[in-house]
Amino acid sequence: MPQKSISVVRVADPAAAATLVADEIAQLAQEKRRGGSALVLGLATGRSTVAVYEALTERVLAGSLDLGAAIAFNLDEYCGLSAGDPRSFAAWMRERFFERVGWPRERTRIPSGLVGGADCEGHCAEYEDSIRAAGGLDLQLLGIGRNGHIGFNEPGSAQDSRTRRVRLAAETIEDAARDFGSAEDVPRSAITMGVATILDARRVRLLAFGENKRAALERALHGEISSDSPASFLREHPDLCIYADAAALGQSLPRKASV
Ligand code: GLP
Repeated sequence: MPQKSISVVRVADPAAAATLVADEIAQLAQEKRRGGSALVLGLATGRSTVAVYEALTERVLAGSLDLGAAIAFNLDEYCGLSAGDPRSFAAWMRERFFERVGWPRERTRIPSGLVGGADCEGHCAEYEDSIRAAGGLDLQLLGIGRNGHIGFNEPGSAQDSRTRRVRLAAETIEDAARDFGSAEDVPRSAITMGVATILDARRVRLLAFGENKRAALERALHGEISSDSPASFLREHPDLCIYADAAALGQSLPRKASV
């Protein structure tokens, strides 16, 4: 079993975390290029990640980061929304990142929210296959839900879960209401990479800011490793780094630990 390395780094704010993550991605991109292969990033939406996309965009525009050959796979998408819908995660990513850096569309992948019924399983399997065919995720960026979800792996998600359609938890719908105008307008289901898909990434970097993430982070770090807190499964990962501010950390002391 590979040695597990969990780092918890306390940062002043999201911008400080973004600098560290963007530096790491830039370094990784360089290493991959030297090795002759393309960087494969797993990306996430959400407020926690906005500063990372800003920091990466700055680097690309300044010429210190080249994402030309890189491939991106996003974690999740709401069911029922087309990629052209401004409320979709596809639109969120295009607006905040992909279009700003001119990342070619064919190299930015995101599950389709419009594949329903019998086609859904095939679409999800194909998403897993394309990640594998790209060589696997070099680095997966993550936020954490108030209920401990990662991607849309809600409480109850199994450690060996793969890309699939899921029902959204009540807290998730409540939190997404601000993006949809009201809770009634939030889609009830989504397609998400699974916990196992995330755990397969070679590096996982999770961002958590603010007091409303404190309980979820505390459980993920110190609670039982179980489906009740999908983020707790990340403790099984060989290369996990969590960037969090003091409000999210609470009593969870920053540490660099190998277990
Ligand atoms: C959504 C996304 C998650 C994200 C979470 C937290 O539910 N599917 O991937 O981690 O929101 O979002 P935020 O960073 O806005 O708090």
